[in-house]
Amino acid sequence: MNINKQSVVAEYLPQQISPVKDSMDQAVFAPSNIALCKYWGKRDAELNLPINSSLSVSLAHLGSKTRLSVNESGGDEVWLNGQQVAADDKFASKVIDFIDLFRRGADHGIKVETENNIPTAAGLASSASGFAALTLAIDQFYALNLPTQVLSAFARMGSGSASRSLFEGFVEWQMGVREDGMDSFAFPLQAQWPDLRIGLIKVSTGPKAVDSRSGMNRTVDTAHLYQSWPLQAAADLEKLHQAITDNNFTLLGETAEQNALSMHATMIASWPPLLYWQPDSVAAMHAIWQLRASGTEVYFTMDAGPNLKLLFSAADEAAVKLQFPAMEVVCPFA
Ligand code: DP6
Repeated sequence: MNINKQSVVAEYLPQQISPVKDSMDQAVFAPSNIALCKYWGKRDAELNLPINSSLSVSLAHLGSKTRLSVNESGGDEVWLNGQQVAADDKFASKVIDFIDLFRRGADHGIKVETENNIPTAAGLASSASGFAALTLAIDQFYALNLPTQVLSAFARMGSGSASRSLFEGFVEWQMGVREDGMDSFAFPLQAQWPDLRIGLIKVSTGPKAVDSRSGMNRTVDTAHLYQSWPLQAAADLEKLHQAITDNNFTLLGETAEQNALSMHATMIASWPPLLYWQPDSVAAMHAIWQLRASGTEVYFTMDAGPNLKLLFSAADEAAVKLQFPAMEVVCPFA
């Protein structure tokens, strides 16, 4: 059988699907997340199955809220932050295509209302929290009551990193080995780290020339250096587990920073080259290394873009803020 998103989802749906009236009087929320061990590279592009397992921390109250309702006038409508989005817009079609995996031609129009409170100024991706919230909303709208693991695997089919945005705190996404990907889902780690702080540093918020999806495909296809990435990621995942178990901030920060730089090394070694850094990104890295040399323990991680996410402890917040006054601080375990 040819495995695709439709066939995988169909296994978990009733014969006839129909919305449960008034099932969503409230929107559902999913947090954004930052990977400390990155997802970079796919073994299956249709299902977003990763080449490596990854580990993230969720951003507490920053994320997406989504509500679905039956659109009595028939067609579909997508609203983002209080504004209706044109039907031919890329965002609207991604949302409707995802809903169609579940609706399967059933005769009802849907109104989708989504709000992101992720500060656009922080240059954070909203696709992870967006697809996670949409998956939770679909589950509720059709009263599917699917297990969380299944919901995480479904969110992954929207965007890989969305599999991790179903949970709070530290989250691991196990890569899985099955062809249908249903063992490739995320789960929360039973750990608390109340002192952990994440600083969001904006370098640029303009649209990036190459999105992470195309960037990771290009890296896998053209960078010989990519061969070392799965080994790096596996070793880093082990170290992060150790760091979390021992509450060892140095190990957590060093591992996350080296993991991000290793991922960026594979991007830079792609062809055409992918360098997401701006001069200000590099200046911020030097400022962080300087702070560290002078005794303030702060580390950074970066995704497929020019912005930095800092990791530090509550006790160092004032010192870090002195260097980066515009930084927004998140308490992931508040
Ligand atoms: C660098 O989840 O956006 O942020 O699965 O193609 O939608 P698709 O990719 P996406 O990639 C995220 C890549 C990353 C690392 C990470 O979040 O783990």
